[in-house]
Amino acid sequence: FYVVNEVVSKRLGHIPIIKGDFHLLPAKVQRFVTEKVELMRPRGIYICDGSQNEADEITNKLIERGMLSPLKAYENNYICRTDPRDVARVESKTWMVTPDKYQTVTHTPEGVEPIMAHWLAPNDFSSELDSRFPGCMSGRIMYVIGFSMGPIGGPLSKIGVQLTDSNYVVLCMRIMTRMSPAIWDSLGDADFVRGIHSVGVPRPVREKVINHWPCNPDRVLIAHRPAEREIWSFGSGYGGNSLLGKKCFALRIASNIARDEGWMAEHMLIMGVTNPQGHERFIAAAFPSACGKTNLAMLEPTIPGWKVRVVGDDIAWMKFGADGQLYGINPENGFFGVAPGTSHKTNPMAMESFQKNSIFTNVAETVDGEYYWEGLEKEIKNPKVEMINWLGQKWHIGDAGKAAHPNSRFTAPAAQCPIIHPDWESPKGVPIDAIIFGGRRPEGVPLIFETFSWIHGIFVAACLKSETTAAAEFTGKSIMHDPFAMRPFMGYNFGQYLQHWMDLAKAPKGEAARKVPKIFHVNWFRTNKEGKFLWPGFGDNIRVIDWIIRRLDGDDSHALKTPIGYVPTEGSINMDGLDPVKWDELMSVPKEYWQEDVKEVRKFFEAQVGIDLPAEIRRELDEQEKRIAAM
Ligand code: GDP
Ligand code: PGA
Ligand code: MN
Ligand code: MN
Repeated sequence: FYVVNEVVSKRLGHIPIIKGDFHLLPAKVQRFVTEKVELMRPRGIYICDGSQNEADEITNKLIERGMLSPLKAYENNYICRTDPRDVARVESKTWMVTPDKYQTVTHTPEGVEPIMAHWLAPNDFSSELDSRFPGCMSGRIMYVIGFSMGPIGGPLSKIGVQLTDSNYVVLCMRIMTRMSPAIWDSLGDADFVRGIHSVGVPRPVREKVINHWPCNPDRVLIAHRPAEREIWSFGSGYGGNSLLGKKCFALRIASNIARDEGWMAEHMLIMGVTNPQGHERFIAAAFPSACGKTNLAMLEPTIPGWKVRVVGDDIAWMKFGADGQLYGINPENGFFGVAPGTSHKTNPMAMESFQKNSIFTNVAETVDGEYYWEGLEKEIKNPKVEMINWLGQKWHIGDAGKAAHPNSRFTAPAAQCPIIHPDWESPKGVPIDAIIFGGRRPEGVPLIFETFSWIHGIFVAACLKSETTAAAEFTGKSIMHDPFAMRPFMGYNFGQYLQHWMDLAKAPKGEAARKVPKIFHVNWFRTNKEGKFLWPGFGDNIRVIDWIIRRLDGDDSHALKTPIGYVPTEGSINMDGLDPVKWDELMSVPKEYWQEDVKEVRKFFEAQVGIDLPAEIRRELDEQEKRIAAM
C-alpha cells in the first residue's frame, strides 16, 4: 500500500519515510521533523502534498478502518463520529507559555483567576510535555503538513508546519488551509509557525477506542509558546484543538505576531455588501463562537437589490496600508461551520458549499446516505427515515435525544461557496470600512447601535458579553464576558491588547492618517418575555446592514443618541415585507438594565484587567456611567 523509500537521515534511524521526499523539505523543516520524530517515535513519516490522490488514499484507509463513512447521497462527502468526550474546544486546558506571567495574563487581585488567558510557567510546561509527548506516536504514522494561512506568498500570509498522528486532521487541514508543495519553495530558509499535535494514544492501545476515534480526554493540553511561534496540542482530535492553523495559529500565535508587526488577528468574518446603487463596502464582524458569524458572512438578503459575498467566516487578519485604509484577508481556505440550525431557509449558501468534498463531524446520517441535524426537519425528503444519530444509535425525528451534537460541524472548501467573493484570495486584502461586535444578549441590548468613536468602540468591544454555547466546554446557559469575541483565543495580556488597538489609530511618520473603521454592536438574540427572539435574524439581518452602510455613507438623519451609542430612529430600518416587529422591545435602552450593566462591567474591569486597563478605556467607562445616570 505504501512505498517505503530510503532512510534519509542517520538521526531518523530506522524510521521510514513512507511518502514524500525528505530532501525537498527546507533545512529548518528537516531539523524540526527530525527532532520531533526522536521525541514522539512514530513508526513512519508521511510528508503530505495536499493532492487529491493523497486525500483519496487517506480517505480510503479511514473508510476501511471505520472512522469515516461516505455519505452516498452526495459526491465525495464523508461523515465521522468522534468519541463523545471530544466534541468542543477545551478552554480550561488551553495555555500560553511565557517566561513572564504578565505577558499572558493581566494583574488580577489576590485570589481572582484570570479568565482572559491561561498562563503556564515554562518549567511546568516542560514537565507537562515530558509526561505526554515522549513516544506518544508509537505505532502511528506522523504526517508532516506544510500549509499557508492566507494565499501562498502574500504579504499578509504566514506559513506553518503541523506534525500530527491523526489522518482526520490531515483531511480537514487540507480543506481549511492551503496545503501544497509550493509551501516549501515559498518558505525557503525563513522561519515558520511550528505545530505539534498528537491524539495521545500510542500503540499498543491500552483503553478501548470509541467510534474509532482515538483521543485522550483526561490528558488534553493545548499549549502555545508565542515567542517561539510554537503550538503543542495533545489528547484531542476536535477541530478547534487539532486543526492548529485555525485558533492556535491564526488567533493565539498570530495575535502576538500582529502586535509585534503592527496589525490585527481577530475572530471576525469579512463580508462584501453591495447596495442597490451598486456600491460595495466590506465589513468585518466579531461574534463569539456559535453566535452567527458564518450565517452573517453568507447572508442571503431578503430585501431586493442587495448583494452579499463572503470573504471569510471566522478569522480576519487586518493591516492598515500606507494609504491609511484598513485591509483584511481571510487566512483560511475553508469553512468549519456549526451544522445544527443550518438549512436552505437560514443559510442556503452554506448548504451549497458542502454538497461535495466535505467532512461532517457528529451529525446524523440517514439510511439514504444523507446528513441530518436539528433545523432540517422541514427540508428532509423523508421525515420518517431511519437515521443513526451522532451517538451511533438508531434515531427518527421525534425520538428522544438529539440527532446531531449541538457543536457538530461541516468542513467545506470555501471556494465551493456560490457567493465566495472574487477577491477573497487577494493577497493585499479587501478594504474594511466597518467593524461589528455582537453576542447573544436575551435582555436589555438593542438590535443595533453605533459607538461614538474608535475609542468608545474599543470600550464596547471590551465589554462584549454573550450567552454560553456548545462550541466550548461550558454547560448551561449563562452570560459570560467575551471581550472582542476573543476570550478563548487571547494570545497575550488583554490590557496590552486594548492598548494595541488604540495605538493602531495613529499612523507612523510618513504614512497617511488612518481612516479607522466605524464600530457597531448588534444583537440578533434579544427575546420577549416568553423567550422568543424578537428579531427574525438570518437573511433579514441585511436590514441592519443597510442602516449601518447608510451611516458609513454619512446619513445623519436616522440616528438617535442614547447613553450607549446611536440607535436607529423608528422607521429608519427597512421593514418592507416583514411581519410586524415590536420596535420598542427590540430597540429600547432600559435605564435600570444599563445601570446594572455598567456596575457589573466596572467590577469585571477591576477584577480581570486591573492596572493593565488603559486610562482612556477607564475614562470611557466613567463617561458611559455618567450618561446612563443622566438618562
Ligand atoms: P458562528 O459559530 O459564529 O459562525 O455562528 P453560526 O453562523 O454558525 O451560527 C451559530 C448558530 O446560531 C446556528 O445554530 C445558527 O442557526 C444560529 N444563528 C445564526 N445567525 C442567527 C440569527 O441571525 N438569528 C438567530 N436566531 N440565530 C442565528
Ligand atoms: P465558530 O468557530 O466561531 O464558527 O464557532 C469555531 C470555534 O470558535 O470553535
Ligand atoms: Mn470561531
Ligand atoms: Mn462559524
